[in-house]
Amino acid sequence: MLTKEAVLHVLGGIEDPELRKSFTELDMVKFVDIAGSDVTVGITLTVPSCPLKEKIVSDIIEGVKLIEGVDSVKVEFDVMTNEQREKLKQKLGMVSPESQTPVSINKFAKRFIAVSSGKGGVGKSTVAANLAVAMAKKGYKVGVLDADVYGFSIPRMLGVTGQPTAIDDKLIPLRKGDNLQIMSMGFFVGEDEPVIWRGPLLHKAIVQFLSDVMWDDLDFLFLDLPPGTGDVTLTIAQQIPSAEILVITTPQQTAVHVAGRVARLAEKTDLSVLGVIENMSYYEVNGERDYIFGKDGGKLLAEELKTKFFGEIPLMKSLREGADSGNPVAIDGTEDQISLFAGIAEAIATSTP
Ligand SMILES: Nc1ncnc2c1ncn2[C@@H]1O[C@H](COP(=O)(O)OP(=O)(O)OP(=O)(O)O)[C@@H](O)[C@H]1O
Ligand SMILES: [Mg+2]
Repeated sequence: MLTKEAVLHVLGGIEDPELRKSFTELDMVKFVDIAGSDVTVGITLTVPSCPLKEKIVSDIIEGVKLIEGVDSVKVEFDVMTNEQREKLKQKLGMVSPESQTPVSINKFAKRFIAVSSGKGGVGKSTVAANLAVAMAKKGYKVGVLDADVYGFSIPRMLGVTGQPTAIDDKLIPLRKGDNLQIMSMGFFVGEDEPVIWRGPLLHKAIVQFLSDVMWDDLDFLFLDLPPGTGDVTLTIAQQIPSAEILVITTPQQTAVHVAGRVARLAEKTDLSVLGVIENMSYYEVNGERDYIFGKDGGKLLAEELKTKFFGEIPLMKSLREGADSGNPVAIDGTEDQISLFAGIAEAIATSTP
């Protein structure tokens, strides 16, 4: 039957497409007006330029129309006052009500996994992107923070574009599917534009990505680090002492040697080392494995560091292609590829920090 309660009940089952909580839960329903068989719903938006207005309208019309006795549904928009926005931020856990200070950045994720390597180009970003989608597919709530501010590559690899919405000084991460949240410098500058920040600004950018992004209750946050043991790693160590370092290396002796440096940095900064993944381990043709970059370097590194070895990822053309086109093989690839990344993702998810 068409009553205000029935409409509110329906609105309680429709989520804001960005904040992923229902309109009633977010106190975004301004009014419900019923005139005969015509319903008008007033929704208070967080920001006037909400990019997903159309989706909100169609979701509400679709839902409310199902109520018996409804002929037409209209949606009208208004914008939150500062006070309402403050309340919303509290509700989303961005500020604690008593102190009005941001909640500790260590609270929004259960575990922080910093994907690192001694040198560039060994596949950190590719592995991070694929592990993140594999984990999200398993039902974990996963974030990916592209901490490579100069050389960001996560948006392209995950096939996610757009500008994050800002609610005052808080940014809403972009999403891929229900379980994956993403933040990258790449959402703010063009792919070919240089980012020319130096130390202190870089530090600030990373801190902001941790503290001013409305990460929504993550099980895991993957931090895709720039190569080497530079400032960003130190910032992470300072900001998130509980972060675990996942070392990516190729099997070569020299690569292993530099990867070892990351691990020693971890020791110095008191970060723990979660384990090692060897990437570009071999190239397989007709069932024959060619160990182009040598063999077992990753395993040996893990032994030396007394940490876990999570496995080998072979050289695969389609892995590169999937990364270039935004279709990670961990979800869009062959069965073997999907199960390879699912296996490593599960091993990480069930590992003890
Ligand atoms: N196992 C693999 N098989 C084939 N290509 C791969 C593999 N791993 C990574 N690549 C490709 O190698 C290139 C470098 O990978 P990626 O950008 O992930 O490395 P990175 O360590 O993040 O680099 P950077 O240090 O610049 O951040 C990319 O083009 C990627 O698609
Ligand atoms: Mg990278």
